[in-house]
Amino acid sequence: RPSLRMDAQAGLSFEDVPLHLVARTLGTPCWVTGAGTLRRRTRNLKTAFVEAGLDVAIHYALKANDHLATLTVLREEGCGADVVSGGELHRAIHAGLAPEDIVFSGVGKTREEMALALRLGVGQINVESAEELHRLSRVATGADRSARVALRVNPDIDAGTHDKISTGRAGDKFGIAWDQAATLYAEAAALPGLEPVGLAVHIGSQILSPAPFRAAFARVAALVRQLRAEGMTVRTVDCGGGLGIRYRDEIAPPPAALAGAIKETLGTLDVALAVEPGRWIAAPAGVLLSSVIDVKRTPDGAPDFLILDAAMNDLARPALYESWHGILPLSPERLHVDPTPQTVVGPVCESSDVFAEARPLPPLREGDLVAILDTGAYGSVMSSTYNSRPFAAQAMVENGVWQPIRARQPVEALWADETLPDWLRRVS
Ligand code: LLP
Repeated sequence: RPSLRMDAQAGLSFEDVPLHLVARTLGTPCWVTGAGTLRRRTRNLKTAFVEAGLDVAIHYALKANDHLATLTVLREEGCGADVVSGGELHRAIHAGLAPEDIVFSGVGKTREEMALALRLGVGQINVESAEELHRLSRVATGADRSARVALRVNPDIDAGTHDKISTGRAGDKFGIAWDQAATLYAEAAALPGLEPVGLAVHIGSQILSPAPFRAAFARVAALVRQLRAEGMTVRTVDCGGGLGIRYRDEIAPPPAALAGAIKETLGTLDVALAVEPGRWIAAPAGVLLSSVIDVKRTPDGAPDFLILDAAMNDLARPALYESWHGILPLSPERLHVDPTPQTVVGPVCESSDVFAEARPLPPLREGDLVAILDTGAYGSVMSSTYNSRPFAAQAMVENGVWQPIRARQPVEALWADETLPDWLRRVS
């Protein structure tokens, strides 16, 4: 991980900022986002497309990390956005993204969200069903607008990823069934208020082989040809997100492999191309800092429990998907001691609040700091306040400097919006 460095004085640094400084100032748990890493990865992705001779727009999937600072960095790097809710759309606009660079995806858009997207003039709405297509036509005609529509097709391809993040198989809730896509495209062309511009496909997340991408894009390319042969206009193909990263020892395909898959299948079709990466750009650009609350010894030789002050309410991925994240102590001295297997847990009252089982780690003590790695995507955005644990603080680093980008939520904010019904108000 090129942006992380361990040295004898400063301990673990991220983009040349010693992380203990951030943790001691803001307290823990605390998320740190690396702006330089976001930039470097975006540029690497762009370079891969350019080197393949392709012009591919990058619509960053906001859901991975939607902090305004992240969005500002990515806007500066020339990214557009993929949004999946009215909230994300407002956020993208607030971060200064141009409406025409925004694609609105998602399996269930409300009428209000559709109207908002049309009013703001988003570049494209990806439609996922016949029902949604008809609803959008009604909303658009009612608002006297025309919606640029791409049909998100379900190519019935197994991306070989975790069940809970697979989206491109026939039984998944996403996308338009393959054998209905052509008919629906023709229908879209005939419906008022709609301008079908192309096709979209997204088959899953943390995909570790180019093969499912190639297979999905090949099916989409065949459909583009078929639609054109039937006299329809297809101007764009949105290739979705899903490119995986190395969390542990996975062999993740480099961006060049994705570019190759796109070029091979869609390269000669004369369509405007776009991708919607979230994880690949953002995951390695974030760490979660946490302090050791205690080490709970276990009888009968089982691994000790390392109890952190971060928990599943902060980082949900291990509890939800059994995902593996690297864990490093911030202090260099700790690394000289032989590691022993420890089970790293949070304090939340759920058995699934486990970050790592029997993970070899040096002996740690109360107050020691650790970094949980590759948590820049689907980390802070999936936090909750379960167990009345406030949202954690956040900082951004770049080129050896750091600043806070989100205050720790004050505990009073947890109940600030709550009210009592009249009959529970006591007259004093
Ligand atoms: N486009 C669409 C239509 C999507 O549904 C997604 C992710 C993306 C793009 C971005 O995919 P990415 O490049 O990040 O793989 N919370 C899960 C991941 C859920 C992904 C949902 N859709 C996790 O933590 O692994």
